[in-house]
Amino acid sequence: MRTTVFGTGYVGLVTGTCLAEVGHQVTCVDIDAAKVEGLRRGEVPIFEPGLEEMVLANHGAGRLGFTTEAAAAIEGAEVLFIAVGTPPDEDGSADLQYVLAVARTIGRHLSAPAVVVNKSTVPVGTADKVRAAIAGELAARGADVAFEVVSNPEFLKEGAAVNDCMRPDRIVLGSRSAPAIETMKRLYAPFNRNHERIVVMDERSAELTKYAANAMLATKISFMNEMANIAERVGADIEMVRHGIGSDPRIGYQFIYPGAGYGGSCFPKDVQALGRTARLHGYEARILGAVEAVNEQQKHKLAELAGRHFGGDLRGKVFAVWGLAFKPNTDDMREASSRALLADLWAAGATVRAHDPEAMHEAARIFGERADLVLCDTPAQALEGADALVLVTEWKAFWNPDFDALASTLRGRAVFDGRNVWNPEQVEAAGLAYYGIGRGRSV
Ligand code: UGA
Repeated sequence: MRTTVFGTGYVGLVTGTCLAEVGHQVTCVDIDAAKVEGLRRGEVPIFEPGLEEMVLANHGAGRLGFTTEAAAAIEGAEVLFIAVGTPPDEDGSADLQYVLAVARTIGRHLSAPAVVVNKSTVPVGTADKVRAAIAGELAARGADVAFEVVSNPEFLKEGAAVNDCMRPDRIVLGSRSAPAIETMKRLYAPFNRNHERIVVMDERSAELTKYAANAMLATKISFMNEMANIAERVGADIEMVRHGIGSDPRIGYQFIYPGAGYGGSCFPKDVQALGRTARLHGYEARILGAVEAVNEQQKHKLAELAGRHFGGDLRGKVFAVWGLAFKPNTDDMREASSRALLADLWAAGATVRAHDPEAMHEAARIFGERADLVLCDTPAQALEGADALVLVTEWKAFWNPDFDALASTLRGRAVFDGRNVWNPEQVEAAGLAYYGIGRGRSV
């Protein structure tokens, strides 16, 4: 099927590539000419496991094209995806200007019936706005072209995006139009084998489903961080508690890992935006406010533990920081907990030597040159002259350090484990002080 995807960010590029992979004819449109040129040469602007190979293969096979020419890309496409960004504006609500700009572009050029699909995370009611924007442009040029709008939220995770897209848990389709749903079912048939994954509902429910899913996941994390903060105070180990409760299938083991807070481009933004939507409709979503507040506090936890170890004075201390990305397998540092940690350490007069397997370019871009930051090429380099080690992102490469070697290197003889990946007994046996998240021993 001929498909056009607007936006070559995480969602758009992964969606377009996966649709091409299963045999559809896909054109990806972006207004960023340099990005489009790069993609044509096979340069994938984001780090996402498996994506580059897939882009190259499908581009090479002629199934996946990249262009800045919206008009040509709209011509003849049966399905048009809107997958552009919805950044938060000052009041926390999602900024729809890019989504609506694409809708107007579609309206200006549409010449044959098509299904327009909202894949961006958008507030409830956006499908109506997209419909109105397209209809407005069609009316302005006196064109009478039939189109439908479907809300089809994306649930992929960064770092596992290709897999999530190729093997979705569910495909949510929000539309009251039976023909539009049929078109979408044909498009997604290759992803819907073995058992039924398609859930059909109205547009608003589909839009809210996306926010509800992310808000629920963020709630699980903040809830566990809250439990960790209690565990720390009462001398319990949250890791034991995690095992103890996860075994109840009603709770489950997934997404109950305490840590230095959640980050990324989705949870912080979506929890805020949903709270804002609720407020606009006269309802104060108190759980969402608490989820956000706990997370904000949690991002400062590692600096607080560091302060505790060094008697409240971090001036002149050197911290090796392992992990800057908001989670492993990505180079994305948006809302990353590492940023709060670094800001706290700098404010307290400490110096940072940081390493991340993928996010070094991003870190250089964000922080620039500063005297209190050394970006290191290897984890070992980050340790040179350090007083203590802080793990913020649980990349596999950081799971099994040589603690004996660390004990002889780190002048302050302390490690801070922001994701509870190390064994406290093993660390302490090496002669280091261990600080984790919610492990009563760190009281
Ligand atoms: C999240 C959702 O998981 C996806 O389902 C959703 O499609 C996506 O947002 C989106 O809206 O686009 P993502 O932001 O890529 O995906 O990352 P996650 O793997 O969900 O991790 C988010 C944050 O939560 C990370 O900082 C991670 O360290 C933290 N986390 C996760 C925890 O602190 N504890 C956990 O148990 C799990």
